[in-house]
Amino acid sequence: MEQLQHSQGQSAPKGPAPGAKQKVQPSRRVTVTDMTSSRDKLTMLTAYDYWTSQLVDAAGTDMILVGDSLGMVIQGKENTLEVTVDDIVYHCRAVSRGRKRALIVGDMPYLSYHISPAETVRNAGRIIREGRADAVKLEGGSKRIPMIQTILDAEIPVMGHVGLTPQSVNALGGFKVQGKNDESRKRVVEDALALEDTGVFAIVLECIPYDLAAEITERLSIPTIGIGAGPHCDGQVLVTHDLLGMSLGKPPKFVRQFANFTETGIDAVTAFNDAVRDGSFPSIGESYKASKKRHNLRLYGGGELPMAASGN
Ligand code: KIV
Repeated sequence: MEQLQHSQGQSAPKGPAPGAKQKVQPSRRVTVTDMTSSRDKLTMLTAYDYWTSQLVDAAGTDMILVGDSLGMVIQGKENTLEVTVDDIVYHCRAVSRGRKRALIVGDMPYLSYHISPAETVRNAGRIIREGRADAVKLEGGSKRIPMIQTILDAEIPVMGHVGLTPQSVNALGGFKVQGKNDESRKRVVEDALALEDTGVFAIVLECIPYDLAAEITERLSIPTIGIGAGPHCDGQVLVTHDLLGMSLGKPPKFVRQFANFTETGIDAVTAFNDAVRDGSFPSIGESYKASKKRHNLRLYGGGELPMAASGN
């Protein structure tokens, strides 16, 4: 509660004392240590593919999350439960090719860290070794501590995730805001504290009241990354499709659409259809002449985005 007095989105800064303020360097790879020592607000966005990874990275985002939200956003499923380790590895590899700077966090899907310590560490290891992620994220609190410990013992950094944990959709009776009564509040706080004690480097707080997120942020020394958890967290994460307006349907209240790619996309595709049908695309200028010159083609949108001028 105290945290609310910092007010207007300013949480108590973590990391080193103000004199030794650490800025996340725009010119080199972001590390887990950068995240725990930063006094700046942290940003994390999802990416599941090469293009989005380049975009999010070029804009100076600190962390890219290859989230199991890909089950809903990319695969069109109604929840995240069917996502597999193979899916996460596949998307992590694509994302790793587009990333220059951001830290890549690979989500551990449902049932990949529930069965045994050996399976858990093997699955986390695949996300790191085959997927080329830098860290993994998994959902849940105290119950998950033994599995988190085995992953940490394999030298893999872990990000926690409490509050609304979408993999518990059936147990929770739907995607519902958590921490609304005393018992639920207490559980979320205890889970966050237990995760910190175990050694996770950051914790996602999803869909909890903002005063609860403020209290947890105040009590933890590791960063909290909020989604639907108000302005007092140490950082914020969104699904990139939501912020770019690439999702169909009404987004939840906590999403701000910073662009409307769906509208722009429909306009562009309509213009393409019209141009093909009226014969104005392709023009002769967009066609090849018969000549001996051999062209080196840049097929299918290949190329690189420049890094954001301002970095972070
Ligand atoms: O899977 C995901 O994208 C997530 C974020 C919503 C935090 O877990």
